[in-house]
Amino acid sequence: MPRKIIIDTDPGQDDAVAILLALASSELEVLGITCVAGNVPLALTEVNARKVCELAGRADMRVFAGCDRPLMRRLITAEHVHGKTGLDGVALPAPTMPLQSAHAVDFLIDTLRAEPAGSVTLVPIGPLTNIAMAMRKAPDIVGRIAEIVLMGGAYFEVGNITPAAEFNIHVDPEAAEIVFRAGCPLVVMPLDVTHKALTTRPRIEALRALGPVGQVVASWTDFFERFDMEKYGSEGAPLHDPCTIAYLLKPELFTGREINVEIETGSALTLGMTVADWWRVSGRAPNALFMGDMDAEGFFALLTDRLGRL
Ligand code: RIB
Ligand code: CA
Repeated sequence: MPRKIIIDTDPGQDDAVAILLALASSELEVLGITCVAGNVPLALTEVNARKVCELAGRADMRVFAGCDRPLMRRLITAEHVHGKTGLDGVALPAPTMPLQSAHAVDFLIDTLRAEPAGSVTLVPIGPLTNIAMAMRKAPDIVGRIAEIVLMGGAYFEVGNITPAAEFNIHVDPEAAEIVFRAGCPLVVMPLDVTHKALTTRPRIEALRALGPVGQVVASWTDFFERFDMEKYGSEGAPLHDPCTIAYLLKPELFTGREINVEIETGSALTLGMTVADWWRVSGRAPNALFMGDMDAEGFFALLTDRLGRL
């Protein structure tokens, strides 16, 4: 039986690749895609999600718009990384598939209540506002979530949007605190891992050679990587979000440890920091499987194989 998932996302070129990877993989049944404000405002993230579904030939996919700002703070976006549209690199046609009328938070609640308990996995790859709002509005869903596999946070890599915090957590730290303290089985894909999933030239040329979808992905990464290569001097940019989907498909590509992770919500200096007790010195109970390493070659082999199916 395919694993039922809901992707919560702020596309974003790397989000888009994660969505394509999920839609190309028969091991997964994507029940819906819920959009949140993050890389760019919600009005763009929901359009981008629909563009990506149509690129994958999935105009049947249900896409929902969710929260357009964090729970308690003003929205911080990342056009400097993703471009004005959030999907700069290639101009995709405006979507013709509909946006669902229900709010993403209500779709999350209704689906978790309707599906058998423990059968739906949530895959948040943007700020955690929608997930936290659903948990607050309907606390009964927390015990029904099979697992949350999210991209966010950092330990050794510390931060990318501030010296201390990763973007998804920093945008809505209060939402992250709700999710990390909810008690659901939680898998965290931090920068420590995603910074190893670099879009090197050979990897991108292998994708470009796949055909139309691979060419679009390569155009996205050609645009997306300029920022990270300049910042880190790295050979390519990190493909953050697809690491969550790859974990669902081939968990053996990743290694990590069960540790306690708390979220900084008070300090202006370190707001949104994931305080990951990697060396287990705090005495606080583990609440997350926090990833520390990955097989990058294996990841790109999987990604190339699956995108080649679209
Ligand atoms: O810090 C990386 C994360 O922030 C990724 O999810 C990227 O899409 C942005 O949302
Ligand atoms: Ca994202």
